[in-house]
Amino acid sequence: MKKDILSILDITADDLNDLIRDAVHLKAMRAGGEAHKVLDGKSLAMIFEKPSTRTRVSFEVGMTDLGGHALYLNPHDVQLGRGEEIRDMARVLSRYVSGVMIRAYRHETIADYASHSTVPVINGLSDIEHPCQVLADIMTIREHFGQSRDVKIAWVGDGNNVCNSLLLSTALTGMSMAVASPKGYQPGQQVVGHARSVGGDVMVVESPYDAVMDADVIYTDIWVSMGEEAEHDLRMKAFTGYCISEDLLEHAAPDAVVMHCLPAHRGEEITDAVIEGPQSIVWDQAENRLHAQKALLVKLLSAEK
Ligand code: CP
Ligand code: NVA
Repeated sequence: MKKDILSILDITADDLNDLIRDAVHLKAMRAGGEAHKVLDGKSLAMIFEKPSTRTRVSFEVGMTDLGGHALYLNPHDVQLGRGEEIRDMARVLSRYVSGVMIRAYRHETIADYASHSTVPVINGLSDIEHPCQVLADIMTIREHFGQSRDVKIAWVGDGNNVCNSLLLSTALTGMSMAVASPKGYQPGQQVVGHARSVGGDVMVVESPYDAVMDADVIYTDIWVSMGEEAEHDLRMKAFTGYCISEDLLEHAAPDAVVMHCLPAHRGEEITDAVIEGPQSIVWDQAENRLHAQKALLVKLLSAEK
């Protein structure tokens, strides 16, 4: 396993299988009240340039479950906000903690941090990728359908950071993926080309109906990601017709499930009836962030001080 997980492709297919097996085991242990404090005494620093509910809480609770400790660091409360260089912070924190999780506006910030850190660095979301989300998503899909079914994912909406990690992950899982986004909001050619070059089975279309045809998983995310607030009105117009509704669901496989990384904006990218409906697995998906990340933390931090 690589020292740093900045992209979902920093995890190999074999490591992915191991992580999901471990995550399922950790989930069962937690449910059974069985202690699993295998990271006793280890610390994780969590740097958040942007808000978070799931990532923050699941990493913090995950470290506590594992017998370790997590520190929430808001850049405005540490010297980064007053101009201390990221490389200096990386070198200093490496002397204190066993690992670092960073959520940043720019992917380069995380890459820069990682290049100066001697302890593992995990991308907790950047403008380009959200690997921890997709690790939990793959766990959730496998829990639901088992590992042998040929799963087709339909992404409907913005070709954003979560979409990118999911596209790249098809090379690891063998799942196929069709993305439906309006022109101007489709995933970048670079990511699509990268996914294909490593064996991913991906296609990009404009019509949500084309994407969801026979799909097993219908996945969406908000239309306005963090940092894009100034484009709100433009995006609301551009994504009209890209809402996951009961009508759209009828064109997918009859036992298709609906996923959303959350937070959701009901009435925009997804209807209330769909997210609350019987095909929605979004709450299991959100829960699995905890278990999947715990497996990742055990793998990355066990050998650290
Ligand atoms: N899905 C996800 O990463 O949620 P948060 O922004 O709440 O962490
Ligand atoms: N695409 C969203 C994901 C939030 C978890 C964002 O970047 O804001």
